Amino acid sequence: MDNRNRTTESTNHRGTKPPSRRGKRLLGVSVPLWSILLWSGCNSAPPLPPYKPVADTKLLMQAVVDPSADELWDSVRTIVDREGTHEIRPKSNEEWTAARNHAVALAESGNLLMMVPRAKDGGEWMKRSRELIDQAERAIKAADAKNADELFTVGGDIYEACSNCHQKYLETIVNANK
Ligand code: HEC
Repeated sequence: MDNRNRTTESTNHRGTKPPSRRGKRLLGVSVPLWSILLWSGCNSAPPLPPYKPVADTKLLMQAVVDPSADELWDSVRTIVDREGTHEIRPKSNEEWTAARNHAVALAESGNLLMMVPRAKDGGEWMKRSRELIDQAERAIKAADAKNADELFTVGGDIYEACSNCHQKYLETIVNANK
């Protein structure tokens, strides 16, 4: 009985210990190796796209953002002159597409603003850029739906998005508010 027990015990010992030592070796060598492979596998991000920002924020505003916004705002407006009141609305498919395209330029400009070297910080700047994207995206939908009233309303919200960022980051405004 005793012997058998001891045998059983020692078998158990021999039976468990060596594998557990092998287990430790596995833990000590193989697992870290695996985890290193896994780690590098998960973290090897694809190579960065070869971005080449050409316009700084000011030039992007002058060349893309401001002209696009002007065209978009001009596409839905009311002119009052001596001859009376003129409701300007996109009339043809081409005019609606043009309005849509200006909204697309504004929306994607928001992404360009988020990129280095234009981004000024990772917080408020991103929020303001995102606001431009979100409002311009609404304008794209309004133009796609040929909904002039909605496009007019969204035009106001886009203006807000411009101002919200300028209030915080446009030197002349920031200094004037000091
Ligand atoms: C995320 C921030 C941000 C948003 C959104 C933004 N701007 Fe700007 N804008 C700037 C900054 C910063 C400058 C100043 C750039 C400089 O002088 O270096 C600027 C400058 C300008 C200028 C002056 C350019 C010049 O000649 O000095 C105009 C015009 C302008 N923005 C129009 C707009 C319009 C229109 C919108 C909305 C459709 C808009 N911006 C949205 C950040 C923003």
